Amino acid sequence: MKGVVLAGGSGSRLFPITRVTNKHLLPVYDKPMVYYPIQTLVNAGIREILLVTGGKNAGDFLRLLGNGKHFGLKHLNYTYQEGEGGIAEALGLAEDFAEGDTICVILGDNIIETNICSAVENFKKQERGGKILLKEVSDAERFGVAEIRENQVIGIEEKPHVPKSNHAVIGIYLYDPTVFEKIHRLKPSGRGELEITDVNNFYIEEGTLTCEKLHGWWTDAGTFESLLRANNLVAKTGANKMTETNDSAAVMSMEATR
Ligand code: DAU
Repeated sequence: MKGVVLAGGSGSRLFPITRVTNKHLLPVYDKPMVYYPIQTLVNAGIREILLVTGGKNAGDFLRLLGNGKHFGLKHLNYTYQEGEGGIAEALGLAEDFAEGDTICVILGDNIIETNICSAVENFKKQERGGKILLKEVSDAERFGVAEIRENQVIGIEEKPHVPKSNHAVIGIYLYDPTVFEKIHRLKPSGRGELEITDVNNFYIEEGTLTCEKLHGWWTDAGTFESLLRANNLVAKTGANKMTETNDSAAVMSMEATR
């Protein structure tokens, strides 16, 4: 399995602090934001990693991360997204890198308390399809939201005004190689982006998307409120812990079908 960190986009929700730098280079407590998603992949045993970035500060990632020595990597791959056409557009740039392998994708502003080792192991046993991770939140309208019926995810809505559940789809996705064919079929959404939620709904239509609940805290860091929350959570408890929480065995596995 290969890993992809998506660190493009304009970070406009954090203007003016992202006017002269990329959001993922901002500090979260004692490290640059992008360190956390890379560590999440490394902790899951993934050693071949591609970082997708864009904008005017792309060169700063190379200066900061080099070949990934800080993470014990021999090599780090980079590619450049022209503009900010959406998460799925950024992921589409990983097609050649993936070379037909399965991939674990993580958004560059997503930080977790623990690790995704069990989800990755469970996905490896899955013959095909994808896997998403869910987290119950009080502000679901900010995220992709799973509609759940009889313990099955029957659809996902991107930032719904009236969420059908409080289960947010977090920014960590496991996909088989058909993800790129699905990305080629996407049409831009109302906000002009290729949406990762549409990719996940293609998998649901196929009946090949599975879900698990993530254990420990999860946050994004793309708004002032969530960036502050991320800083406070990391300062208080630390992130990317390898130790399992007490409830980690209680994984909710669900087949997702429409
Ligand atoms: O954090 C989880 C949420 O992330 C999911 O629940 C949503 O379904 C998903 O759409 C996404 O929502 P956001 O509105 O928070 O996504 P945002 O535009 O902030 O992008 C998240 C990351 O994706 C960003 O840190 C960098 C990367 N990205 C984004 C865009 C739009 C790119 O690499 N290129 C892009 O063009």
